[in-house]
Amino acid sequence: MIYLDNAATSFPKPKRVYDRMDQFLREEAANPGRSGHRLSVQAESQIVQARSLLAKLFNVKQAERIIFTLNCTDSLNIAIKGALKEGDHVITTYMEHNSVLRPLNALEAIGKISMTKIKPHGEGFIDLAEIKKAIKKNTKLIVVTHASNVIGVVQPIREIGKIAREAGVLFLVDAAQTAGVISIDVEKDFIDLLAFPGHKALYGPPGTGGLYVGERTKLVPWREGGTGFNSESQIHPETLPFLLEGGTPNSVGIVGLREGVEFILEEGIEKIQTHERALVQKLRSELSSIPGVKLYGANDVKRSVSPVSFTVEGIEPQEFSLILDESFHIAARAGLHCAPLMHETLGTAPQGSIRFSPGYFNTLNEIEKAAQAVKEILATAIP
Ligand SMILES: Cc1ncc(COP(=O)(O)O)c(C=O)c1O
Repeated sequence: MIYLDNAATSFPKPKRVYDRMDQFLREEAANPGRSGHRLSVQAESQIVQARSLLAKLFNVKQAERIIFTLNCTDSLNIAIKGALKEGDHVITTYMEHNSVLRPLNALEAIGKISMTKIKPHGEGFIDLAEIKKAIKKNTKLIVVTHASNVIGVVQPIREIGKIAREAGVLFLVDAAQTAGVISIDVEKDFIDLLAFPGHKALYGPPGTGGLYVGERTKLVPWREGGTGFNSESQIHPETLPFLLEGGTPNSVGIVGLREGVEFILEEGIEKIQTHERALVQKLRSELSSIPGVKLYGANDVKRSVSPVSFTVEGIEPQEFSLILDESFHIAARAGLHCAPLMHETLGTAPQGSIRFSPGYFNTLNEIEKAAQAVKEILATAIP
C-alpha cells in the first residue's frame, strides 16, 4: 500500500511513538497530577515535557501557554469561540477548512459577529493589501490557514501577522498542514493563537492537538471542571494551561505526541521540509506531464507543502480514487476536503479534486508509482 493521505493524518508514525505509548499505557498511565502518588506525578511530568518540546518547536517562551486539545478542529473552536464577543468583526479567507468556516458561520448566523472573507489570487495567494483594506474599527481577529489543505499553497503569515499586530488585531493561524513541516515562530510571525493537530506532521496519534495562546489573548473556556489542584475552589482556575484544560487529559496520546515532536527536533525540520519538497516537486512534475491531468496550486515548491490536488478529464475524483485504492493500493483522498470555498475558487466544486499528500516517510519511488498509476488509469479509461 502506498499511503498518500498524510494531510488527513500521518501514517505510519515513527516507531518510537508506538513503543512509548504502549509502554506508558501498560506501566505508567495514572491520572496525571490528580493524585499525590508517584505514578500520578510522573505521568504529569510527561505532559509537562510534551508541552516544553512543543514550546521549543514553535519558539513559545512560556510552555504553559500551550494547551492540549482533541485535534485542530477543537483548537480552532476554542480559539474562535473563546476570543470573539458580540459585535466583533473577523477577517478570514476562501482557503479555510470547515473547522474555521463553520464556527465563524455559526457565530455570524446568530448575529454575534460580522465577517469579511478574502479570495486568493493566481496560484492561490492572499493579497496583503486586501487584508489591510478589510480591517475595520471593530475587527478583533484575523484567521488564516498557513497552508491550504487542498493545494498546499503557503501564505505569508509573517507579513499578515505584522499587519494584524500593527492594527491591534489578534492573529490566529491554522497550522494543520504546516506544523512539523515548516518552521513556525510565534514571536517572529506575530502569532497570537496557533492551532495545530498532533496527529498530522507532528506524528502523534489521532485524538491529539494543541493551541498556543499568546499574552495578548484572553480566551473564555467552554469547559470548566477538575484540574487536580485548588479543589476547595468552586471556580475554575484562570491560569493557563488549566483555564482551557478541564478534565482528565489524553495522556497516552500526549505521550505519543511528545515522541513525535522529539523525533522532529532530532531529525531537524529543515531535513523534513527538504524531503517533502522533493516529493512534491517530483509529484508535480510527473503529474503535469500526463495529458488529461489538470494540476492546481503553486509551481514554486518553496511556497507550498504536501497536498497536491488534480483533476482528470472524464473521470470523477471519487471514482478515480476508488480505482487508485482497489487496483493500485494507493490511498488518496477525493472530494471537497472540508474546504468548499477553496474548491469554489478553483472551479472544482461540487466534485472536488483528487488529493495526493505525501509525508516524510514516502519515497520518490512511491511517487513514481503513483504517477504511473494515474497514467495507466487514464490510458484504460480513455482509450
Ligand atoms: C487546514 C486544516 N485545518 C483544520 C483541520 C482540522 O484538523 P483535525 O482533523 O485535526 O481536526 C484540517 C484537517 O485536515 C486541515 O487540513
